[in-house]
Amino acid sequence: MRTRNNRAIFLNLIVCMMMLIAAHAQSQQFNPYPTGPYPDRIVLNVTQDPSTSLAVNWRTHDSITAGTAEIMVAVSNPTDVTKATGIKAKTETVTHDGKAANYHSVVFTGLQPNMLYMYRVGQGNYRSEWFHVRTAGKPGDKLSFIYMGDVQQGMRTVWPRVIREAYVKMPDAKLIMYAGDIVNRGRNDHEWGELFYGGGFIHSTIPGMMSPGNHEHADNAAGVNEITALWRAQFTLPENGPEGLEETCYYSDIQGVRFISLNSQAIWFGGDGMQKQIDWLENILVNNPNRWTCVVFHHPVYSVKANRDNENLREKFQPIFNKYKVDLVLQGHDHAYGRGMQKIPMPGTKNTSPTMYVVSMSGSKMYENDKPAWADKSGGHLQLYQLITVDSDILSYRSYTATGELFDAFELMKRTGKNNAVKNLK
Ligand SMILES: [Fe+2]
Repeated sequence: MRTRNNRAIFLNLIVCMMMLIAAHAQSQQFNPYPTGPYPDRIVLNVTQDPSTSLAVNWRTHDSITAGTAEIMVAVSNPTDVTKATGIKAKTETVTHDGKAANYHSVVFTGLQPNMLYMYRVGQGNYRSEWFHVRTAGKPGDKLSFIYMGDVQQGMRTVWPRVIREAYVKMPDAKLIMYAGDIVNRGRNDHEWGELFYGGGFIHSTIPGMMSPGNHEHADNAAGVNEITALWRAQFTLPENGPEGLEETCYYSDIQGVRFISLNSQAIWFGGDGMQKQIDWLENILVNNPNRWTCVVFHHPVYSVKANRDNENLREKFQPIFNKYKVDLVLQGHDHAYGRGMQKIPMPGTKNTSPTMYVVSMSGSKMYENDKPAWADKSGGHLQLYQLITVDSDILSYRSYTATGELFDAFELMKRTGKNNAVKNLK
């Protein structure tokens, strides 16, 4: 019996090796996401103030050495598009795996709040279609936004249905937040190709707020853990964070909400990268004119897995969230769902946490949920997306499964000088 089992294991190993060799040979034979003269990977990004400015990035073949982005207030008469203003792009060549590509970026400035614009990008005969985008409104206007936990795997298989469901349910979202591990290997160009394929025109229509995870980082030849060169080439995120962490640690103020991205990979390693973010975060929270505050980062303060503990975040950052009554923290990394605040005590007081913590995932990678005591709601083996609105003193949160069933829901009610009141709705 044992000999037969050994033979079966051996045969399985041979089959697996042959499959790996075949997959490798295929990946060498084809470049699944080649560059061309037409712009691709067109992505809108939040700026510090998306009511008056927006950033856009795109990619071309490296023979296209310049680019232009045109923008105007949206019109119905197609002959009027000649009235658009053209802005010359910043262009940089990035050579990756021996293949060069040109990355172009433009920041549109001087826009009017809550206005429907149309824009396109490209050069000469090679231009994109015209996209619509509505700028953010003013503080007090009702705000809608989407939150995606880790995509990471299944970017062009099972994730596209999730982003499309979210868009169909909330087409007026002012931003889509990503909690890192957006792809599995940040250095693999074809994985970004899959992500841009998966989100299609939605990337070009609703500004993204990308926060990096451990999978967008890797050790370089000198053994230093660094973010992929593709990150800053293909996104234009605010550079209002600490020196050395630009476009990974930053904030954006939208309709009375301060949205903050932390680089939790740098926090996980500790040292200077963590201390810079502690000092910066204190400063932007003590000087925060917004009624609401929402922070996104990858490694959770409270984990959904029993064997995981991101000590630096829990010990160094949770006290800051408590002190400034941060309303909502959106995280990923654990590939299972957890959400709670009422069972998280504030050290030295009888009060519970003023902050609602969420861990979620949107791609195909799933881990078991250890049902931690802190979570008011736990779940797993589900692709989820979150739709959130802020209307005056009420923040309303809904988490849906990929098939559109309501999985979790709560409301936070702002109370001056007190922690938010929470209403569990699911
Ligand atoms: Fe992760």
